[in-house]
Amino acid sequence: MADNQGRRFSCGIDFFHVPDLRVAVTSATEAGFDFVCTPISHPRCKREFIEGPARNRGGLFAVPDALLSGQEWSSSIVGKISPWILPDSVDEATRYNSEKALNQELSYASHLSLPAITVQLNGGSVARLASILNSYLNTSLGHQQVWIQVPLCATNNGNDAVRDTALEDPWGWWNTLRSMCSFHKRLGLVLEVTQALPTDVEIDRWFGEPIKCLSFPTSIFRTNKKGYPVLSRGHQEMAKRFFKLRIQSIVSGNCQDPTKGSNSYFQYLEHVHENQPPLDDYQKFVRGYGDYLQWPLQPLMDNLDSQTYEVFEKDPVKYARYEEAIYLALLDRIESNHNETYYGNGNNSIGFSVVMVLGAGRGPLVKATLRAGYSLQTKLTVYAIEKNPNAVITLQNLKAVEWGDQVTVVSTDMREWEPPCKADIIVSELLGSFGDNELSPECLDGAMKYLNEGGISIPSKYSSYLSPFSSSKLYNEVRDCREKDRHPLISFETPFVVHLHNVHIFSDPLECFSFSHPNSGSGSRSNDRYICLTYQSPSKDTVLTGFAGYFEAILYKNVTISTVPERHSEGMFSWFPIMFPLREPIYVKAESRIDVHFWRKSSASKVWYEWCVTNPYISGLHNPNGRSYTIGL
Ligand SMILES: C[S@@+](CC[C@H](N)C(=O)[O-])C[C@H]1O[C@@H](n2cnc3c(N)ncnc32)[C@H](O)[C@@H]1O
Repeated sequence: MADNQGRRFSCGIDFFHVPDLRVAVTSATEAGFDFVCTPISHPRCKREFIEGPARNRGGLFAVPDALLSGQEWSSSIVGKISPWILPDSVDEATRYNSEKALNQELSYASHLSLPAITVQLNGGSVARLASILNSYLNTSLGHQQVWIQVPLCATNNGNDAVRDTALEDPWGWWNTLRSMCSFHKRLGLVLEVTQALPTDVEIDRWFGEPIKCLSFPTSIFRTNKKGYPVLSRGHQEMAKRFFKLRIQSIVSGNCQDPTKGSNSYFQYLEHVHENQPPLDDYQKFVRGYGDYLQWPLQPLMDNLDSQTYEVFEKDPVKYARYEEAIYLALLDRIESNHNETYYGNGNNSIGFSVVMVLGAGRGPLVKATLRAGYSLQTKLTVYAIEKNPNAVITLQNLKAVEWGDQVTVVSTDMREWEPPCKADIIVSELLGSFGDNELSPECLDGAMKYLNEGGISIPSKYSSYLSPFSSSKLYNEVRDCREKDRHPLISFETPFVVHLHNVHIFSDPLECFSFSHPNSGSGSRSNDRYICLTYQSPSKDTVLTGFAGYFEAILYKNVTISTVPERHSEGMFSWFPIMFPLREPIYVKAESRIDVHFWRKSSASKVWYEWCVTNPYISGLHNPNGRSYTIGL
């Protein structure tokens, strides 16, 4: 069943011991469960490979494959690696035995084509386990996932005197293992909900990790007045936060009240899953785009297509803000009576304002300008300048059927245009997800020559912002972007536009580059920039995998648009964040300093960014000389 956010609730049941797998699968399906977690080998079948009573034991160590159909094995069964397998034990015999048994179970899981196997971690000594899993992940075929199971909170046996934070940090155990496995994309996580709740900082940190399931032991449930299992409010709220990541659930352990049956847990968790606030329009729009990488548009170098314009034009906020800004700018002009200085446009200039829409696309900002002029009952001469000849057809048609002589459509690059008069107001939207990455600074510099002295640019200023983040998912998405016959580093030196989802942004955004128009030193002041930003990492160790980029624009006076999370213009969906990846994840100790350097550089034909982390570890310079990614001028 789907929750009110369109996500289907999916839940498995985890059996410690399964005497009859066929019966277990049937009863789990009848109770509503989607899959069954079952030991790969018989729990009592502890194999011995060196010596001991079981050394020469014959018979089957696992259930035969013919018991279920191939379809059932590959869609309904998650195999559990035996918990007694300890490849990192201090005891050599246990280690040797464990390695053999682990390889045997992995081999059988592969034979059965199980969709996933789970491996329980109980501490941070995982080197040998990681080594075996790494070679399994890199040699086994198919899509089988390895889910590492860790508790949300580790217990320290109540002995604070010997408190060892490394021992108590399940994230640290997981981080060691997955780092040794180079963040393999088939490694996932099962988080085991514990009676004790983690702190908010600890929960936040998991949001950058590839969580597949939340496992609910029946022992953490309470019983309501009717005798049914329920979770404490704290557990419910935490579960709802994790459910936003579209993860599955697992119920593990014995039914506390057998008369209620295991489906009482299923139904309760389904209820918690469904009981979430409905999506607003913005959330509906972004659904399905989570962590999906897109190459940033290059509207200067390329011609946007009709569908792209159509999506822009559906934004309910952007054009309203522009209209408000144009309205206020016109009002100020009327009030300060600065409207008598135009020449050459054939009109009696007194009482007119000349507005030039630069990069008019299919005309929405021209319409916003006309609406603002109409509201103020002021006379306007509007120029719509557009370099995309396909969009110009739409503009010319609008002029013919709607706008008439009030609007002049000019099919040209704004940097080359020789206008018949100067503008009082120029209106443009050449802003990319990082503000300046669609080359608004360069285009508007080229247009400044036709803005009247004292004229207004909408936008008047825009700034980019950056936040460090951790995301195993995005790291793998970037790694997978590798193109045939191209250097594997290229994707790590390319900024991507992406709706951030399975991501932990761990520091507030800091301002990066700013541009103002008109720029007092226009033509002389370079649009190249450099900045070093310093962040403080959170109170828990984490892993830095990239930087999220946003922008904020002052359209006119106090009319702004923003994609910076805390100030995001509500309901505006024209821009997703941009992200700058790092070639290698960087381990960041709690409360330490992160220094990142960003450059905006240019040549006669292109603009590009370079970036480099120098603290806590030097990442190497990304995209030097624009070798992997440039924006064409
Ligand atoms: C991001 S789109 C915005 C289109 C439209 N104003 C809107 O809001 O839907 C930018 C537009 O500017 C045009 N453009 C970009 N650089 C230009 C330039 N140097 N001269 C003229 N048009 C340009 C592009 O072709 C594109 O139509």
